[in-house]
Amino acid sequence: MSAQDEQKRQAAERAVELVEDGMKLGLGTGSTARRVLEALAARCRAGELAEIVGVPTSKDTESYARELGIPLATLEDETHLDMMLDGADEVDPALDLIKGLGGALLWEKIVAAATDRLVIVVDESKLVDRLGLTCALPVEVVPFGWRTLLDPLRAMGAEFDLRRRQEGAPFVTDGGHYILDCGFPGGIEDAERLEALLTRRPGVVDTGLFLRMTDTVVVGGAEGVRLLRRGDGR
Ligand code: A5P
Repeated sequence: MSAQDEQKRQAAERAVELVEDGMKLGLGTGSTARRVLEALAARCRAGELAEIVGVPTSKDTESYARELGIPLATLEDETHLDMMLDGADEVDPALDLIKGLGGALLWEKIVAAATDRLVIVVDESKLVDRLGLTCALPVEVVPFGWRTLLDPLRAMGAEFDLRRRQEGAPFVTDGGHYILDCGFPGGIEDAERLEALLTRRPGVVDTGLFLRMTDTVVVGGAEGVRLLRRGDGR
């Protein structure tokens, strides 16, 4: 296991200690979220957690959680969740995020918005001074007319690529949309403004900017695991 994988695993185990009996949980997507599912399943097997239920944010998470024996529900059954545990692609000093490199940003954002406490689990490589410095911003768009978004995106300073599968066909999200990965050289200057500009364009479904949503970030690092809380600064 690489040092980075080990940091993710340790952070996931620490994050799962925050879960209590009877909680309704949002289950994130990605490699770190998988470590969370494993840690959650281990606590359930050990009899340390009872009566939890998880709402998955992707088909992939749903099938892995099922394999691990985690009881599942949907937002049809549970419209209000206690805690969501998920990874992120970047975390800035205000604990704002870029998510969606795994392609699940829309379902993740819907579940996060229905949750009291969003707990993000990362290794320390995900901490950045400014969003957009180390990864592109995924923007989920309706396939119909997606090319009409390209000029407006250029005007916002974005350099973009339509996300594709290995064989070249466009990547399609679980919700049936495309993803435009938008790079901003030098990072994103004003994330609030960019989010407003992007989401008011017809055809943009949502973006990977998760602003003012995070409560706690659990960071796995070379020196061990630490918790960052919104408002504490970094
Ligand atoms: C999935 O769409 C993403 O939001 C993931 O949470 C994010 O990409 C982090 O993934 P890793 O834990 O695999 O880095």
